[in-house]
Amino acid sequence: MTDARVAFTAAAAVGPVRRRTFGSFVEHLGRCVYGGIHEPGHPTADEDGFRGDVMDLVRELGTSTIRYPGGNFVSGYKWEDGIGPVEDRPTRLDLAWHSTETNEVGLDEFARWCRRTGHELMLAVNLGTRGVAEALDVLEYANHPGGTAWSDLRIQNGTAEPHGIRMWCLGNEMDGPWQVGHRSAEEYGSIAAQTAAAMKMVDPSLELVACGSSSSQMPTFGAWERTVLEKAFDHVDYVSCHAYYQIRGGDLETFLASSLDMDYFIDEVVKAADEVALARGSEKRIQISFDEWNVWLLDEYEAEGKIEDGWPVAPRLLEDVYTVADAVVVGSLLITLLRRSDRVQSASLAQLVNVIAPIMTEPGGPAWRQTTFHPFATTSRLAQGEVLRPSIDAGSYANERFGDVPLVDAVATYDASAGRAAVFLVNRSVSEPMRVEVALDGLGLARVAEVVSIHDEDPFAQNTREQPERVTPRGDVPAELDPASATLTVTLPPLSWTAVALER
Ligand code: AHR
Repeated sequence: MTDARVAFTAAAAVGPVRRRTFGSFVEHLGRCVYGGIHEPGHPTADEDGFRGDVMDLVRELGTSTIRYPGGNFVSGYKWEDGIGPVEDRPTRLDLAWHSTETNEVGLDEFARWCRRTGHELMLAVNLGTRGVAEALDVLEYANHPGGTAWSDLRIQNGTAEPHGIRMWCLGNEMDGPWQVGHRSAEEYGSIAAQTAAAMKMVDPSLELVACGSSSSQMPTFGAWERTVLEKAFDHVDYVSCHAYYQIRGGDLETFLASSLDMDYFIDEVVKAADEVALARGSEKRIQISFDEWNVWLLDEYEAEGKIEDGWPVAPRLLEDVYTVADAVVVGSLLITLLRRSDRVQSASLAQLVNVIAPIMTEPGGPAWRQTTFHPFATTSRLAQGEVLRPSIDAGSYANERFGDVPLVDAVATYDASAGRAAVFLVNRSVSEPMRVEVALDGLGLARVAEVVSIHDEDPFAQNTREQPERVTPRGDVPAELDPASATLTVTLPPLSWTAVALER
């Protein structure tokens, strides 16, 4: 057993817990939309063909904002293909995923799904094959009350009230050579600036996201952000980060350290954005929209997952089955996102259903929770009030990629008015339990209300259709609060993620 000490004080508040930290992402990719959220023949489907069992699970997951409709898909998408009578909509090739897009679901249907499930819709515009004009068209269609060609068409199509979309992504991963219409930083910075300026002429209160880097490993990382922001700084509010992590060659120790890359990514983007601000003498701060993050077995997809022959409709693509270790990493990435919520003001778990997703479905059959569902749902439910950044005194292990990796990571949230707090912890040791003393001075907490943990004898255990409840949250982690010394003592199992809720 190893010991660690973690200390939180209310004075170390980073900022409020932002609901947008718990966003997700629905792309027209594989079975995310068709056969995922939408399956008209399913026994639980509503009048729009949306699966009720999926809606119930999504509500339980506690997601907030949903980014839509892509992703790589958006860079070849004509948004107007997805409006009006379904039987009149065209069928198109989707170059990004080598699939056929039927356009059965489009903006109006998805906005209805968001309203029904209590989500904020975050819309991406196509800056791959399209530009300023089409972005203005979709903005007018979505948000203008009426009396113009596009807004009247929305009303005619059955949506009288504007959709009121606040957050807009200016394209997707335009730094990636795989992107349809991929551009240089200079080209993208210019079109993003022009599009953003025009959109803000319609509505200056929109929140606009410029594409940052597709990963911290991109050869243009850093330089891309500087160039894009030098051009678009005055017109945009956020720059995006995308990051996917995977286990390679069974190396759990490197995989469990993934959040160190996320921290590095955030540091470098903040540095680039603030340098651009400084050079302009501006006090404006560009915030981060971490609008794609997750575990994804990307190497497997690159090696054998891609569709090269045929153009199937809603094929099974990117249907990763997650493990306990994946869930621990997802929990630890959420710890980082929360701890950095001074600058990460929006984030999207990519994606929501079937495609690298916390929720899986079978056609005509059940929907179930993957392992990664649990740390996300618990963090979204328990994180309330202010985020408290810790000081951590724990051992470390040496890792070839990341150097010294702290064995423990943590963050806390504290809601003074409700008299509640939550501490989120990860133990990265693959073999040793960790006894952690958590100092919570000045918070006036009296008892442990709930303990939720993900750990297992088998770090590769999974939930499947046959065994959907093989991995579920556990309450068997010892956690005691001594109110006199304001110290919580919790013993974390090896390779585990744990949340402890406390109350006055
Ligand atoms: O989420 C899957 C894909 O990952 C998205 O379409 C793209 O933006 C990223 O490369």
